[in-house]
Amino acid sequence: MATPEELEQCGDETAMYVAWDDLTVVIPNFGEGATKRLLNGVNGFGEPNRILAVMGPSGSGKSTLLDALAGRLAGNVVMSGKVLVNGKNKRLDFGASAYVTQEDVLLGTLTVRESIAYSAHLRLPSKLTNEKISDIVEATITEMGLQECSDRTIGNWHLRGISGGEKKRLSIALEVLTKPSLLFLDEPTSGLDSASAFFVVQILRNIASSGKTVISSIHQPSGEVFALFDDLLLLSGGETVYFGEAKSATKFFGEAGFPCPSRRNPSDHFLRCVNSDFDNVTATLVESRRIHDSSFSIYQLHETSHTLDPLDDIPTAEIRTILVRKFKSSEYAAASRARIQEITSIKGLVTERNNRSQTNWWKQLRILTQRSFINMSRDLGYYWLRIAVYVVLAISVGSIFFNVGRNHTNVMNTAACGGFMAGFMTFMSIGGFQSFIEEMKVFSRERLNGHYGVAVYTMSNLLSSLPFIILMCLSTTSIVNYMVKFQSGASHFFYNCLDLITAIVTVESCMMMIASVVPNFLMGVMLGAGYIGVMVLSAGFFRLFPDLPIVFWRYPVSYINYGAWALQGAFKNEMIGVEYDSPLPLVPKMKGELILETVLGINPVSSKWLDLVVVMMILIAYRICFFAILKFREKVFPIIHMFYTKRTLSHIQKRPSFRRMAPFPSNRYHVHHALSSQEGLNSPLQ
Ligand SMILES: Nc1ncnc2c1ncn2[C@@H]1O[C@H](COP(=O)(O)OP(=O)(O)OP(=O)(O)O)[C@@H](O)[C@H]1O
Ligand SMILES: [Mg+2]
Repeated sequence: MATPEELEQCGDETAMYVAWDDLTVVIPNFGEGATKRLLNGVNGFGEPNRILAVMGPSGSGKSTLLDALAGRLAGNVVMSGKVLVNGKNKRLDFGASAYVTQEDVLLGTLTVRESIAYSAHLRLPSKLTNEKISDIVEATITEMGLQECSDRTIGNWHLRGISGGEKKRLSIALEVLTKPSLLFLDEPTSGLDSASAFFVVQILRNIASSGKTVISSIHQPSGEVFALFDDLLLLSGGETVYFGEAKSATKFFGEAGFPCPSRRNPSDHFLRCVNSDFDNVTATLVESRRIHDSSFSIYQLHETSHTLDPLDDIPTAEIRTILVRKFKSSEYAAASRARIQEITSIKGLVTERNNRSQTNWWKQLRILTQRSFINMSRDLGYYWLRIAVYVVLAISVGSIFFNVGRNHTNVMNTAACGGFMAGFMTFMSIGGFQSFIEEMKVFSRERLNGHYGVAVYTMSNLLSSLPFIILMCLSTTSIVNYMVKFQSGASHFFYNCLDLITAIVTVESCMMMIASVVPNFLMGVMLGAGYIGVMVLSAGFFRLFPDLPIVFWRYPVSYINYGAWALQGAFKNEMIGVEYDSPLPLVPKMKGELILETVLGINPVSSKWLDLVVVMMILIAYRICFFAILKFREKVFPIIHMFYTKRTLSHIQKRPSFRRMAPFPSNRYHVHHALSSQEGLNSPLQ
């Protein structure tokens, strides 16, 4: 470890020291029950050139700690304590650090090389030439050992793709591409065999060696993998069991009375000592033995437990408690506190450096639009299936309303055909919801890591979808116009097409809005279907405009309803300028304008183009709302959450149940075993 003087002298601009002090994360309980602590007064730090492994049993708070450090905690929890980056309070979300999450969120339709290349073009400085960027992409592929699968598709619901280990390495590759100074990883080796896990951690070792700070949670590392870590934070039930150099952990466990047996992997031993699930496992095994052999005596039961594991002699909860207490008063805790003091007082370190994209806005827009277009064109469910369904539906509409004619009896048929087109055809946008949600997940990951901005994403999403929607509407309108025999002429056809395009883009924008606020697919589909249902109902076909209840349905719903304007425009396009046969023989033909006004309750004076402009304005309003929701989540939500945290903490800190208690409420505990040697040969626990 470098001394503060050395650090000040070297003045490395990219060095990132992260220290956290008394970090506590709680789920507030405003009722009678106790407040649950996910993390309880955890201290520690991460330094350049070193990998810190965060270990602990499942549910011990590893992900919570990483989320707290990276500023990504869920809205329902509150955090107290300090997170200092190079000695200053600083938020680490939206590009200030890189974070590889436990779940791999990738665009499944792209190949490995394409994913890395798009990411590189999106984020590396615009001044780099394409050749230079290709070199960086190839170097990253080689460094991450992805050469063999570089041209293979990642895979999604209809495409078999690369393996889990390859996905994990790709997720890491996407983050290390820009050489971030601070890298968080949540269980990068889960689901990998020991060789792949070793490979991944070796890559992290190389990254750290180039002056980066790496903090990674890890589940159950093998001996070889554990040996690659510099520092270790061992958590159990949200409390620190050990924090310090990884190689000194064995010594600490020995000193605390739980030495690691010589033939046991140290990390297995640490987890075995603090995982209280073993208590339940032991109890269940002993109980099942008793049920099968009722002649078993208590003594034999005890003997049985001995054969299961020597550590079964003491409940794990008790071992954990001893370790937490011993650590608090140990030299390791004192050393870590001193080191935290040291690194928070280092001068001359830059706090503003971040991992955000260095590409200009226009290049980002071009690359993102291209990537999104490729994704849409390869994802069967995004548009192709819908286009096929639209064509089938258009043929169905065309054959049901075939050559509908201009007889007075057909006025309502024409209206029904228009109503179906404006209503049900736009309803089909819900079909792409799964793909919307997938895309939003990728956006959230990339946005949190600072790959690009919200505006660029909103625009690129719209632009990339346009070619598909135009194709969909062109095919549908051509079939329907030809079969139903709507008014002929290019301008009428063009209007119908444009009307359907704007209505569908508006609904898609609304779906994106919904996808950005709902947590899952099912809720999105339900909300989206409900919303479109209400819009179709009040669009002026099922109930004419003059008959809609004035309060709410007419004002304001029918005025802010894209469907109402789109339908009015379509009716005007079809009926203005044509004449319908009269029901009586000698009565002159009826003008379309008259039918519009008297039968359909639509004012024929205002232009159909005005209706189209209103639909476009609603579309723009939806896109702005989509942008605003994403921005709100980033800017306003953290401020609201900060106030919520302050209020909640001041509320719950008054409660006796919340006040900090010693982890050992009683003094009944006495040390069961004398200190044993490091080998643990004379330990009762071997
Ligand atoms: N937002 C939340 N709301 C409610 N409970 C939460 C929340 N986040 C975490 N928890 C709870 O906190 C505990 C710690 O969760 P965390 O995800 O940090 O564990 P972990 O150590 O990462 O586990 P694993 O190894 O299984 O990933 C768990 O009991 C979890 O259910
Ligand atoms: Mg986790």
